[in-house]
Amino acid sequence: MNKGGKVISFLNQKGGVGKTTMAFNTAHALAREGNQVLCLDMDPQANLSLLFNREVKDGYHIHHLLMNSIRELKSIHSPVIYTDILNSMGSIDLLASGSELSGFELTVAGISSPRQLILKKFIDNNALTNIYDYIIIDGPPTLGLLVVNILCASDGLLIPFKADDFSKKGLLSFYEILEQVKDMGISKVPEVIGHIPNLLDRKRKQEERDLKSIKLNQKENVKYFGPFYNKAQLVKSLGQRKSVFDFSLREFDEIQGQFSSIAQGIKEWNREQIQ
Ligand SMILES: Nc1ncnc2c1ncn2[C@@H]1O[C@H](COP(=O)(O)OP(=O)(O)O)[C@@H](O)[C@H]1O
Ligand SMILES: [Mg+2]
Repeated sequence: MNKGGKVISFLNQKGGVGKTTMAFNTAHALAREGNQVLCLDMDPQANLSLLFNREVKDGYHIHHLLMNSIRELKSIHSPVIYTDILNSMGSIDLLASGSELSGFELTVAGISSPRQLILKKFIDNNALTNIYDYIIIDGPPTLGLLVVNILCASDGLLIPFKADDFSKKGLLSFYEILEQVKDMGISKVPEVIGHIPNLLDRKRKQEERDLKSIKLNQKENVKYFGPFYNKAQLVKSLGQRKSVFDFSLREFDEIQGQFSSIAQGIKEWNREQIQ
C-alpha cells in the first residue's frame, strides 16, 4: 500500500541553529505517535548519525547510495543497496552520512542527468515514501548543490533559526535559493511548514524584539513553532545521545510538549495537503 509519506527537511545554511537537534527530537515525537520514520542525514558532518550512536556499516553511507543511483558513475559504484546500510531502531530508521558527502558536488559535476534531482530519484526509485510515513532530513550548513537536492526532494520545510541580526539576513538568502528552485521548474517546490526560533536567551530582551520584527517582516502567513529557549534539558539529553522523550522527569515536560507540537503541526500540514 502506498503510505503517501512526506519528506520533511530541517534547513538553514547557518550552523549551530538547531537543525540536527530539531530533526532528531521531531523524528522521535512522530515515531512515538505510531508513524514509521526514516531519518536521512544529509550533512557530511554526520551529527545526526552520531546522535543515533550507530556505526556506519562497512564505511558505506548515504553518499555511496546516491552515487550508486547515477548510472553514468558506474566506475565508482559500491556493492551496497540501501537496506544493507539502514539502521533500524524500532519505528525509526536511519540512513547515516559521512565525510565523503562533502565531495558530492565535485563528484557529480560532470554528469549529464539533472544534478539537482539525485536525492529525489533515490527516494523515488526505492519507493521510500511507500514505506515511511515521514522522511526527516537533516541538512548541512551550506547553500550548495546538496541543499538544492534536498529542496527538490522535499515536500515540507522547517527552518530553525536564531533571532539575531545575522540570521535575518541568512533567512533572506535561504529564500532566494528557494525562489531559484521554483524558477528551475524541474520539480515541485517544497512548502515552508514553519520557522522555529531557537536558542533564545530569556535575559536578552533584544532577541525578543528581533523575533517580533522578523515575524512582522514576513510576507506570507508563515507559522512559527516555539520559541525554544536555551534549555539545559536539551544539552543534557543530547549529551547522552537521547531524545527528550527518553526522560520522565517533570523538568522535561515543557520541551517534550514543544516537540510534540511541531509533530502536530507537521501532521496538520499533511492533512491540508491531502484535502
Ligand atoms: N534550545 C536549545 N537549548 C540548548 N542547546 C541547544 C538548543 N538547540 C540547540 N542546542 C545546542 O546547540 C548546538 C547546535 O545545535 P545543532 O542542532 O547541532 O545545530 P545545527 O544542526 O543547525 O548546526 C548543539 O550543541 C546543541 O546541543
Ligand atoms: Mg547539524
